Amino acid sequence: MKKVNAGITGTGHALPEEVITNADLEKMVDTSDEWISTRTGIKERRKARPDEYTSTLATRAARQAMEMAGVEAKDLDVIICATVCPDMALPATACIIQSLLGAKRAAAFDMAAACSGFIYGLTLAEGMIKAGRAHTILLIGAELLTRYVDYTDRSTCVIFGDGAGAAIIQPVEDGRGLLAARIQSDGDYVDYLYTPGGGTRYPASIETVTNRLHYIKMRGNELFKVAVRSMEEISRQVLDDLRMSPNDVDLFIPHQANQRITEAVAERLGLPLEKVYSNIHRVGNTSSASIPIALDECVRAGRVKPGDLLMMASFGAGVTFGAAVLRW
Ligand code: UT7
Repeated sequence: MKKVNAGITGTGHALPEEVITNADLEKMVDTSDEWISTRTGIKERRKARPDEYTSTLATRAARQAMEMAGVEAKDLDVIICATVCPDMALPATACIIQSLLGAKRAAAFDMAAACSGFIYGLTLAEGMIKAGRAHTILLIGAELLTRYVDYTDRSTCVIFGDGAGAAIIQPVEDGRGLLAARIQSDGDYVDYLYTPGGGTRYPASIETVTNRLHYIKMRGNELFKVAVRSMEEISRQVLDDLRMSPNDVDLFIPHQANQRITEAVAERLGLPLEKVYSNIHRVGNTSSASIPIALDECVRAGRVKPGDLLMMASFGAGVTFGAAVLRW
């Protein structure tokens, strides 16, 4: 039987129009453009309108990816929406996206792996394709984090933004597409980054709202160190799996968590910054959407070319982390 790999055959992304600049945040909390720029690299981030939902941006990104891949809604076997900002607690946002697209045949479900959602989803999609369970998979990372951000908490509100990125995953010839991937978690760090309210532990009540439990809580400084270490280690492991080294990588797309995290990981891997993509100054941290948004920007700008070796690495709440290497 002919061997196949899973490859990305189309990409897309969507960002809401409204821009929140550091100057805007200076008017809301005790912060400064100088602090935000030097500590995070972020200059601005996007915010969805009240009548835009996670599914709105996700569907917009999905349509672009489908067009690039030449795929119609009826061709989709599976829709995976990686998100921690679902439209509603029930049902899965992927089912809403399915209806908006009219993808009648697809199986649709959400995946909660926070900022690692795209790498987790890629790994899952690869398994389904290699097992012959699916041919055409729509993988979306979409988040409206501004809905969960506490605009009185300066340590988190400056970081997060809204957006969606999408990819079509299909069989490609052996030697192309996803060459290796690893995903991992460490649940001992649950309370480093979490939104406690609204689940079964703290069901929504007047008290949970009064105590601001529906907002994101983050121990940023401690998380920073775990992020750098985890992304470096898992990237090395994936390259080792392929008997490759960072020297072989043409383009590295890390999760856009903080420009200082990106630079620390790149330095530890010995990757020059010319090989590292960054858009955090324009979009902030968009969690699971960050890698597919960056990927689509690279594809459309010709920054990643056929034959290039592309590495992606992520880290997020859970904590979850992962890395993937693709031959474009
Ligand atoms: O995407 C998922 C994973 N996310 C991450 O991995 C996030 C990782 N963490 C980070 O990106 C950084 O830790 C932050 C950007 C969140 C914070 O940067 P930091 O250099 O670690 O700052 P810090 O938390 O150690 O705080 C240093 C000081 C504190 O003041 P004191 O206690 O020294 O007086 C903070 O209160 O900076 C203060 N601070 C701010 N000052 C101005 C925190 N946020 C702000 C702010 N503006 N927005």
